[in-house]
Amino acid sequence: MKKIGVLTSGGDAPGMNAAIRSVVRKAIYHGLEVYGIKYGYQGLIDGDIEKMELGSVGDIIQRGGTKLYSARCEEFKTEEGQLKGIEQMKKHGIEGLIAIGGDGTFMGAKKITEKGYPCIGVPGTIDNDIPGTDFTIGFDTALNTIIDAIDKIRDTATSHERTFIIEVMGRDAGDLALWAGLADGAESIIIPEADDDFEDIIDRLKRGHDRGKKHSIIIVAEGVGSAVDLGNKIDEAAGLESRVTVLGHTQRGGSPSAADRVLASRLGAYAVDLLLNGHAGRMVGIQQNKLVDHDIVEILNTKHKIDFDMYRLSKELSI
Ligand code: F6P
Repeated sequence: MKKIGVLTSGGDAPGMNAAIRSVVRKAIYHGLEVYGIKYGYQGLIDGDIEKMELGSVGDIIQRGGTKLYSARCEEFKTEEGQLKGIEQMKKHGIEGLIAIGGDGTFMGAKKITEKGYPCIGVPGTIDNDIPGTDFTIGFDTALNTIIDAIDKIRDTATSHERTFIIEVMGRDAGDLALWAGLADGAESIIIPEADDDFEDIIDRLKRGHDRGKKHSIIIVAEGVGSAVDLGNKIDEAAGLESRVTVLGHTQRGGSPSAADRVLASRLGAYAVDLLLNGHAGRMVGIQQNKLVDHDIVEILNTKHKIDFDMYRLSKELSI
């Protein structure tokens, strides 16, 4: 293999730039040519492709977003779109591809691999919803952004003795809500993976209030539904004053944490190693701090699981 491509696709995540840098530098270190494909699979279809040099990835390790831009591409879900992408790979002489993103990205990588062009997936999403890896690139940074926001909200919540319902991202997964709730001592954490007892949420709020607590924090994963609706229900049932904050896309931005930069650097380089060693259709990950790789089809067919021990602990600590 002499020429490889790299792209980022789906929702951007802090640390994607560090992963791009790692892929480019590691590939050049091994004598490969690297091509950056802009706007994910849309750029592959459109031929928005340019050669990357060592300097192309200078001064980006600390930056959020993705230097290669990103997109959610409907056309690439079709056979026609995939064939257009393959044509562009042929035209540029690209023999293998590293695709950084979430499960939609891996579906594209699987299709390209099936058409004879080896692809390796690198998990980059703030949602941490990819099986086969303990952490995805961007999760740690997003988590720290959430914690920072909640710490600020606590100040005003105490001043007014209010309950705050905070909605966090995560698509269908509750990881961001669970980790943020545990890290910030939330009264309740509401996630799609667990059936929550509304009465229990209200009881916790009332117990805290009766004990003299000056504020309460409830974290809701977006996959559960609207935090605004929940806030109205809670207001009515608990008779306490509440406010809702939806953190939204602030969670996707910002300079990546040290943990995300290191993770991205390790995973990007490992993906290059796999391509060089003749592997195809794999996803790289980290499990118990060891680099691992899995069949991408297996990953796509596996459901992500939440850590229920952590969920139980959060309940025990917020009695
Ligand atoms: O997958 C990352 C993510 O931020 C999810 O948490 C969220 O549901 C979704 O992307 C939002 O997507 P968009 O930026 O396209 O609105």
